[in-house]
Amino acid sequence: MSAPTWLPTDPVALLALARPIAEEVAATLERSLDGDGPSVSAKSTPTDLVTELDTWAEAHITERLLSARPDDAVQGEEGAKVAGTSGITWCIDPIDGTVNFVHGIPGFCVSIAARVDGRSVAGVVVSPLHRDVFTATIGGGATRNDRPIRCATPASVARSVVGTGFGYDPDRRRRQAEVLARVLPYIADIRRAGAAALDLCSVACGRLDGYWEVGLNPWDHAAGGLIATEAGARCADLDGGAPSERFILAAPPQTWDDLAALLSEADAASV
Ligand code: IPD
Ligand code: CA
Repeated sequence: MSAPTWLPTDPVALLALARPIAEEVAATLERSLDGDGPSVSAKSTPTDLVTELDTWAEAHITERLLSARPDDAVQGEEGAKVAGTSGITWCIDPIDGTVNFVHGIPGFCVSIAARVDGRSVAGVVVSPLHRDVFTATIGGGATRNDRPIRCATPASVARSVVGTGFGYDPDRRRRQAEVLARVLPYIADIRRAGAAALDLCSVACGRLDGYWEVGLNPWDHAAGGLIATEAGARCADLDGGAPSERFILAAPPQTWDDLAALLSEADAASV
């Protein structure tokens, strides 16, 4: 993806600000697993969890970003909403994969993206237990632990290991399971790793051959979507438009159309 002709700030400088903040918060999350575990409460449904560390992390990240760049806007999963004048909006998922975090399962991460007019220009995703730091800047490529990454080159959809995720609403989950039953016979295998940002980074570094999900929020895909795109994956809505809260499909360009056709056939966007 090429950089937009107008950018209020150098994306590399934005990444340089966000990365150490994400790494510091990720290290705090990792250390917290040695304790008694954070206090947990439920949000939209009894299975949609939030911990005291989600809240702390979002406030801490917001405070650190705004103390360096007070004119920026901020939007975060746990309610951060700050208006700005600089043209940059920070989109924060303080813990993506909160259910994994609560269970001590390694697939959780900190995700921070800088966006201009809803388009991500810099992003970092830090997975402390996997020791993975994924980054990207628009037009500047993607890295894992400072090495450039590229998405996989699967031979076909039939040979593809594909990730997906489920929402928290029980009715939607039932419909998502039905779609899964229709897709599974035609792919190599399915993974439900539990953090959308990491699923997108897994496509970026070739661990997954594709990933789709319905009903994400901007903070789930803002950083990971840029990282996947900059690693050569196609990341779009089923109609080929910009990925949105409605639908996101990230896959290598060679198999994107076939995977999209399979998902359309399975009515994946209707859930
Ligand atoms: C969730 C995770 C999960 C995805 C859900 C998200 P959270 O985010 O990314 O993998 O399937 O749609 O809501 O609640 O752990 O921040
Ligand atoms: Ca999330």
